[in-house]
Amino acid sequence: MGRRTDNTDDQSVAQRILDHIAQGTTDTGADVWHEPVDNYRSPERLAAELALLRRLPVPFCPSAALPEPGSYVAREAAGVPLLVVRGADGKARAFRNACRHRGTQLANGAGCAKSFVCPYHAWTYTLEGRLRHVPHEEGFPGLDKSTHGLVEVHAEERLGLVFVSQEKSGSIDEQLPTIIRPGQPMFATTERELAVNWKVFLEGFIEGYHIRFTHPESFFPYGYDNLNLIDLFGRSSRITYPFRRIKKLESVPPAERKVEGLLTYVYHLFPNVIVTILSRHTNVLILEPLAVDRTRQISYTLANDPGEEAMAEAIRDREFVGNTGALEDLAVVSSIQKSIGSGANDAFIFGKCESCIVHFHRELGALLGGKST
Ligand code: FES
Ligand SMILES: [Fe+2]
Repeated sequence: MGRRTDNTDDQSVAQRILDHIAQGTTDTGADVWHEPVDNYRSPERLAAELALLRRLPVPFCPSAALPEPGSYVAREAAGVPLLVVRGADGKARAFRNACRHRGTQLANGAGCAKSFVCPYHAWTYTLEGRLRHVPHEEGFPGLDKSTHGLVEVHAEERLGLVFVSQEKSGSIDEQLPTIIRPGQPMFATTERELAVNWKVFLEGFIEGYHIRFTHPESFFPYGYDNLNLIDLFGRSSRITYPFRRIKKLESVPPAERKVEGLLTYVYHLFPNVIVTILSRHTNVLILEPLAVDRTRQISYTLANDPGEEAMAEAIRDREFVGNTGALEDLAVVSSIQKSIGSGANDAFIFGKCESCIVHFHRELGALLGGKST
């Protein structure tokens, strides 16, 4: 049982946390950041963010969501219907989910198919996107089937995730460690719509400054007040939330320290994906902006290890972690969303102890231009 195999990382993570516990400190950034509130309510800004989401390689689903040839996931990403499917050759491909006859979507949700048959007039495509069959083909003289396959966009499997870039193939943050290991099985998928801006929702995952006050009974009894490690990987980042029981590592020789079960890692995969690695299970949360004040959250949950026993533990763990903490966060972000239009704040302030958020806004601002300090 082990979700992190990198011992050096374990040891340095453990030492950094123990030092912070001893000194009553936390990792901090260099700057305080002021993010204009307009950036949370401007339709032009949202349009620019969606354009960015179509341009960058963005995680679409875990590789484990496509366990065999024919497995597919169809949903909208940045407002565009996509169909991601594992071919007979094992390769994951992404297509615009639109029939080349008159645009009907070929699939919805997730499943396993041998081919994709359009529900309207049954044009039929292979798993690799080739147009294979047109009923009553004599009605389309001159139709070249070889140029009427599904329109493919760039897909790439890395770090245990399928990344899709809809408009060109950008690069994935090189320095990121493996997030999901081969063999971690997926056991749950959920979707829900939230009446909040996607960035307000995202921000709640990547700072530990609020744990004591927002989660006094759910998370704080097991954790620390404002004690986190921050690691940056290109535009992405990782924030580490240690449990109080990590203190027992003080008496373990540094070379033998293992952090599994003693902390939670939260990866922010720029721009809109959060991966939470808990003791027995891993959550991949994709935040799809729908409007300035509406977000669809798609979540994929995986066990941290293969096998039935690990799966049963993961399911138990997920139930135990439960909903309380998530509901507490949702209450806060809903409250923020309501104040956004009130004119009370020209800017939101992010302190040195909220440096993952500062990093996010700095990187987003650099890509989109516009005002932010
Ligand atoms: S729209 Fe797909 S077959 Fe007609
Ligand atoms: Fe929270």
